[in-house]
Amino acid sequence: MESLSTGVEGLDLLMEGGYPKGKSILVTGPPGSGKTILGIHFLHRSCQEGKKCILILTRELTEDILTQARRLDLNLEPFLEKGQLSIRNIFEDKINKLKSVSKFGKGLCAVDTDIIEYLSSMSSEVDVVVIDNIGVMAINHDIREFADEFSSISIILLKNGCTSLFIMDEDSYEMTHKLTGYMVFGLMRLITQENFSSGKTKQYLYIEKMRNTPVPVKYSLFDITPQGIRVISSIGQKSIFK
Ligand SMILES: Nc1ncnc2c1ncn2[C@@H]1O[C@H](COP(=O)(O)OP(=O)(O)OP(=O)(O)O)[C@@H](O)[C@H]1O
Ligand SMILES: [Mg+2]
Repeated sequence: MESLSTGVEGLDLLMEGGYPKGKSILVTGPPGSGKTILGIHFLHRSCQEGKKCILILTRELTEDILTQARRLDLNLEPFLEKGQLSIRNIFEDKINKLKSVSKFGKGLCAVDTDIIEYLSSMSSEVDVVVIDNIGVMAINHDIREFADEFSSISIILLKNGCTSLFIMDEDSYEMTHKLTGYMVFGLMRLITQENFSSGKTKQYLYIEKMRNTPVPVKYSLFDITPQGIRVISSIGQKSIFK
């Protein structure tokens, strides 16, 4: 199966070269576990390899993501300037729209329809889509509506042949009965293990499923360094990474 590099060497080694091409992968995890950084790695590497990429943001400011990427030495701005990367900030757009009609309130909820609308008009040349954070769609929806919206987005992306990374906060993932986990091709969970006596935390990357791909090692210890995510070792197969 053809794959696209995740941008993290140790992770590519765990998954036959990277994310399966044309498929959707879901990443969940608690706050600060590295979900956005994983998305930045993928976008940066894909842009470097000449792919056309889209980042959809629903919660964070575009400016903050760009600063985060720059600080990790994964600057996305040159690709934005070249037009190879497009960033659509659903939340910021919505606030601007509401400001212009001097209304604030109900309208902020319809993030999902905005994502669907935007993706429906997306060019067929787009290779990579990262959505950070799809969890906002779980708010103000019952589970059935949420599942329908999520399926619509998934199908649009699959039909367009995009390799997609859905980032979802753990609370929304649990709140929606982990339903999205069944609806994607691959599922990765970031797990933070607290150690109160040492005051340090350990972070694990758990590849819960990857259809059609043998995953030799499911739990891998990783670190977030000033250069981003580094896989340190994998349980059962220690020290295969430097
Ligand atoms: N330059 C850096 N050097 C070392 N660690 C960093 C650096 N930048 C970020 N981090 C670590 O990464 C964490 C944030 O990662 P990230 O933004 O990917 O989390 P997240 O899972 O997306 O969180 P959220 O759910 O809040 O969006 C920070 O808590 C910090 O510990
Ligand atoms: Mg984040």
